[in-house]
Amino acid sequence: MAIQINTKDTIGKIQPELHGQFIEFLGSCIDDGLWVGEDSPIANECGIRVDVLNALKRLQPPMLRWPGGCYADRYHWRDGIGPRDHRPVTFNENFGTYELDRHQFGTDEFLNLCEQVGAQPWISVNMLTGTPREMVEWMEYCNRREPTTLAQERAKNGHPEPYHVRYWGIGNEVWGGGGTLTPEAYVDQYRRFSSAIPSFTRVIGEQSDMYAIASGPDGNKPNERVNWTKDLFDELARYRQPKINGYDAHFYNWNITHEDDTSTKYTKEGWSRLIKGCLELEDEILRQSQMIQKGLAGMPLPEVAADPRLQHIDLIVGEWGNWHRDATVARPALYQQATIRDAITTALTLDVLQRNCDTVSMACNAQTINVLNALILTDGENMALTPNYHVFEMYKVHRGAMAIRLPRQDEESKVYQFASVKDNDITVDLINACTDKGVDVDLAFDSPVKAQSMISLASNDLYACNVPGERPRLAPTHEALTSVQGTKVTVALKPASVNTLRFKIAA
Ligand code: AHR
Repeated sequence: MAIQINTKDTIGKIQPELHGQFIEFLGSCIDDGLWVGEDSPIANECGIRVDVLNALKRLQPPMLRWPGGCYADRYHWRDGIGPRDHRPVTFNENFGTYELDRHQFGTDEFLNLCEQVGAQPWISVNMLTGTPREMVEWMEYCNRREPTTLAQERAKNGHPEPYHVRYWGIGNEVWGGGGTLTPEAYVDQYRRFSSAIPSFTRVIGEQSDMYAIASGPDGNKPNERVNWTKDLFDELARYRQPKINGYDAHFYNWNITHEDDTSTKYTKEGWSRLIKGCLELEDEILRQSQMIQKGLAGMPLPEVAADPRLQHIDLIVGEWGNWHRDATVARPALYQQATIRDAITTALTLDVLQRNCDTVSMACNAQTINVLNALILTDGENMALTPNYHVFEMYKVHRGAMAIRLPRQDEESKVYQFASVKDNDITVDLINACTDKGVDVDLAFDSPVKAQSMISLASNDLYACNVPGERPRLAPTHEALTSVQGTKVTVALKPASVNTLRFKIAA
C-alpha cells in the first residue's frame, strides 16, 4: 500500500487538550490508585503515590478533569478542604464503589497535582444536589485574588496565590445520573448556574477567562444524541442565551453484550467489533458539530444590539474509552485490563480526535487509573503501565502540531493512518489492525525527508496485558527506519501494532 503525505495540506492545530485525562472518585481511580495518604507504607509524596505521580509527570497530561463524572453530582467541595483529619466521612456509592469516602484528596490536593504534572484543571460542579451559591463559593475559593474570607481560607490551606481554574463543567450527563433532565429542564438550570459564574475581571470591559462547559448528549444513543442537541439549542434560542463556551458529549465504546468478549478474552469478531465501535466517535463528532453550527445560526438577533448573542461553542468529548463486560461487575468498581486491542482503539480514537481538531477542542480519556480505559493499574504497592499509557506517550509529539489531511484508512489494507507536522518535524501514525499479517507501507512525501525514529507497540499474544507486580509484557520498541530515499520511505508493520514514525523535512 502507498500513502501520499502532503505536509502543506493541513486541517488545523491539534490542541494539546485533546490528550486530556479524567480522574474520578470511582473504584480505585483516586483512593488507592492515586492517593494513599501520607502515612501509607506505599512510597508517596504528600499522600500521592510516587510511582503514579512519576508516570503522570512523564506523560504531562495537558488537562485533568475531576471530581467526576457522576460523582460530581453529589460532591460538596467543602468536605474536601482544610485539615485532613477534620474532614467528614461519607459513603461513596458511585457506580458501585461502595466505600467509605474520607475526602482526603480534595480541591487543594487536586490542584497541586495539576500544577505538578502541568495539567489544566477542569472541575465539574455539582448541579444535582448543589446550588449556584456552592458553585460560586468554590470558584471564589480557587480563583479570587482579592483577600476575601474564602481567598484567605485558601491561603491558610497552603495556596495564597489564586489557582486560576479556567474550565468548569456545569452538570454531568444531565440526561442520566446528573438529574434525568430533559434538555428544556437542563437549560433552565444551566441558565441559573452559568449566570452566577464570577468573571474575575478587574477592569470594566475586560473579557472573562472563565470557561463554562455545558453537558452534551449521551453520545452512545444515535437517535437521542441528535434529538437532545436539537432540543437544547431550540430551547436556548427562545430567549437571551447564557454563557456557554464548551459542549461536552460523552462517548463510550460499549462492549458489554457478548458473553465471550471481556477485556482479556475475545474472538476475531470481538476484535473487529471493538475497532469498528471506537470509530463511531467520528460520526458523532461530525454530526454534533453540524448541529451546534445549525443551532447557533438559529439564535435570534437581539432586539438591542448591545445584548449578547451566542456565536461560538467548542465541541468537547469529556469522556471516552472502551467499557468492557467484566468492568460492570469488577471489584474495585469498573476495573478492567487492557491488551493490544485496547491500545489500537486508544490510538484510533486519538487519531479521530486529532483529525477533527478543527471541530473538537478538548477530550478526556476515561479514566486514568484503575477504571475503564486505564493508563495505569495499581495493586497494593505495585503499579503497571497499560498499553494505553504507551500510546498516549507515543502520541505526545502531536500536541500543538498541525494535522495533515489524509484519509482515515487505506482502502485495500487494514492500516489506519494519521500524520501531523510541526515546524520541520513530521509524525506519522500507522496502525495495523490485522491480527495475523504484517504489511509493508510505502510513504511518499511532498519533499525529501530524513528518517528520525520509529516506535512500535505490538504483541504476538493478542491477550497479553501488563499486570502490576509482574514483568511488563507490552512495551514500545524502537525500530530501524532505514529505507528512506528522498521523498519515499518503505516501512514494515508488524501485525496488531501501533506505530509512530518521525521524519524531518530535509533542508
Ligand atoms: O467514567 C465512568 C462514568 O461514566 C462517569 O462517572 C459518568 O460520567 C459516565 O457515565
